[in-house]
Amino acid sequence: MKMLYKIQWSSCLPSCMGFSEDSLPKSKSNKSASKQAQRLSFSDLSNPPTPEDLSISLVGSNLYVFSVSELKVITQTFSSNNFLGEGGFGPVHKGYVDEKLRPGLKAQPVAVKVLDLDGAQGHREWLTEVVFLGQLRHPHLVKLIGYCCEDEHRLLVYEFMTRGSLENHLFKRFSASLPWVTRLKIAIGAAKGLAFLHEAEKPVIYRDFKASNILLDSDYTAKLSDFGLAKDGPEGDHSHVSTRVMGTEGYAAPEYVMTGHLTAKSDVYSFGVVLLELLTGRRSMDKTRPNREQNLVDWARPFLNSARKLSRIMDPRLEGQYSSKAAQKAAELAYLCLSSHPKHRPLMRTIVETLEPLQDMLDDIPMAHFVYTVATPQTKTQDDDESKTVEEEKIKRHHRHRHQLHGQRHRNRSSPAVAALSEDATVYKKFGNGAPRNSPEHRL
Ligand SMILES: Nc1ncnc2c1ncn2[C@@H]1O[C@H](COP(=O)(O)OP(=O)(O)OP(=O)(O)O)[C@@H](O)[C@H]1O
Ligand SMILES: [Mg+2]
Repeated sequence: MKMLYKIQWSSCLPSCMGFSEDSLPKSKSNKSASKQAQRLSFSDLSNPPTPEDLSISLVGSNLYVFSVSELKVITQTFSSNNFLGEGGFGPVHKGYVDEKLRPGLKAQPVAVKVLDLDGAQGHREWLTEVVFLGQLRHPHLVKLIGYCCEDEHRLLVYEFMTRGSLENHLFKRFSASLPWVTRLKIAIGAAKGLAFLHEAEKPVIYRDFKASNILLDSDYTAKLSDFGLAKDGPEGDHSHVSTRVMGTEGYAAPEYVMTGHLTAKSDVYSFGVVLLELLTGRRSMDKTRPNREQNLVDWARPFLNSARKLSRIMDPRLEGQYSSKAAQKAAELAYLCLSSHPKHRPLMRTIVETLEPLQDMLDDIPMAHFVYTVATPQTKTQDDDESKTVEEEKIKRHHRHRHQLHGQRHRNRSSPAVAALSEDATVYKKFGNGAPRNSPEHRL
């Protein structure tokens, strides 16, 4: 049987509840408690939480509490050099924590998100993020390291995700195109994150699944960020949660927008939209396009169930370097996710199981043009190393194999003096980190 630990809400978020700075925990809460306790639902808090809420069951959340002055040191006073981007919550800055800051907190780069007090989101979104992400841990969820709640200041401190958001990679003009296998890896990682949330003992509906909320690690491992809109799933006999319609235009499921009825299948719809974005390289909503092409789902749907038609809407930046068979399967899956009947949409678990085998479909990837890049010891950077992900190596090996089979003469021109790399032109373009983003999405 699960143990339920009674922890005072004040001990978790003391300064937000009007408690003195002195009572701030200086290190993590009791870890052993967190392992056994049950996740606190957001509904366990009244709206907005008050000090009367204090007696609630809460897991030891493993979060560090920071002061504003500490975060200024960490981010070099939120210097513009460290600016990463800005969404509805507020600006995000890169920072660095050193090992002396807290016992047990390792030295690492972090991303610090500052609540814009004049912005669209507020204390409630901040608290939702702390309550959900503070308790949920998974390889495909971004790790919340801690928070700051001092006077009116509300900040969040996350693990730093080296490659920023999927949105930056897919849509920013100056970022190099993501190779097909990397797109699949991202889709699978994000799907695993959602599957974890939906299958949790107390299921969570994420509600804001979109390309800008999928962050990428150095090896393109996808992690979900931004739990400000997350909701506890329906309980007991309830089929859905009734809630105010929130989310982002172009990603939210139609029945949720129309009725306010939220289910895990709303996330599945949003997943279908992101899958389409990965296939087509187009934004879910793009007001710069002709009218009938502005809504990605409406425009792409008729092309999804035929291989011949699909090729007409695949991202031109892939330059044909993808498996048509795998793309067709992914498109059929997207079609199901985007069904107007939520019940017809697959479970996230099924989506993971459908996508995973597509990673091994490499046979029908057309032969790439080969370019010869000369790397000298002077020009080789750490970034060059990082850009060779496991998937890229896999494709490279595959192509080498194919070249052997076809007896082609594309060989490495290596010499002892200069290391020459023969590489797939699409796969080995250098990945930029994407330009910072300033404009918030179209919020519903
Ligand atoms: N943990 C992180 N590591 C690295 N970069 C991050 C991290 N969190 C956020 N960012 C960067 O900051 C940008 C802004 O993120 P934020 O989540 O605030 O806004 P958004 O997702 O673009 O918009 P929205 O408010 O609609 O969610 C992201 O696009 C990303 O590039
Ligand atoms: Mg976001």
